[in-house]
Amino acid sequence: MHTLIFATNNRNKVAEIQSLVGANFTIIPLKEAGIEIDIPEPHDQLEANAHEKAVTIFNLTHQNCFSEDTGLEIVALDGAPGVKSARYAGENSNSQANIDLVLSKMTGIENRTAQFRTVICLIWENQTYYFEGVCKGQILSNMQGENGFGYDPIFVPDGATKSFANMTMDEKNTFSHRKKAVTQLFDFLGKL
Ligand code: IMP
Repeated sequence: MHTLIFATNNRNKVAEIQSLVGANFTIIPLKEAGIEIDIPEPHDQLEANAHEKAVTIFNLTHQNCFSEDTGLEIVALDGAPGVKSARYAGENSNSQANIDLVLSKMTGIENRTAQFRTVICLIWENQTYYFEGVCKGQILSNMQGENGFGYDPIFVPDGATKSFANMTMDEKNTFSHRKKAVTQLFDFLGKL
């Protein structure tokens, strides 16, 4: 049995990832590891922010740990909101404000191609590893659906006919960027 600290306090993410792990790993969120800090995300690359979070936790605990960082990258907006996805409309912005800003910037734009990208940074036995999951799709011109979070109401993954916010969690997981990155992480750990 291995324990792995996950640099988050988001219960949904912990539950989602623990459900993928199997019995060999126990995922420990920050609070349970006794860590109560706000980890900064100062960089303009998902990889660099994920690394910063993992290194911060490793330096505090000297235990195996991982972090993840996700962004919505829209081609017509040169990759924005990207690393700023959580705070696109301002430091304390909520999902509705972020969606409104995306939709207004996309008004009249034909190329609606976008992707969610998740980067995981793992520090295992003092070595650093990265894993990536990408979900390509299209930005809608209005909100559809009530499920999920973040930009789910305006994103339709390729191969689907409805937005993430019109899917169940299981349906979303068949496309999800985060699921793909986490699957790679645990494929790797499973081979150790
Ligand atoms: P985080 O790095 O996973 O916390 O994601 C940063 C931001 O990206 C979130 O605050 C959301 O706005 C957005 N985001 C991440 N994953 C998703 C998703 O699966 N659906 C919709 N929005 C997401």
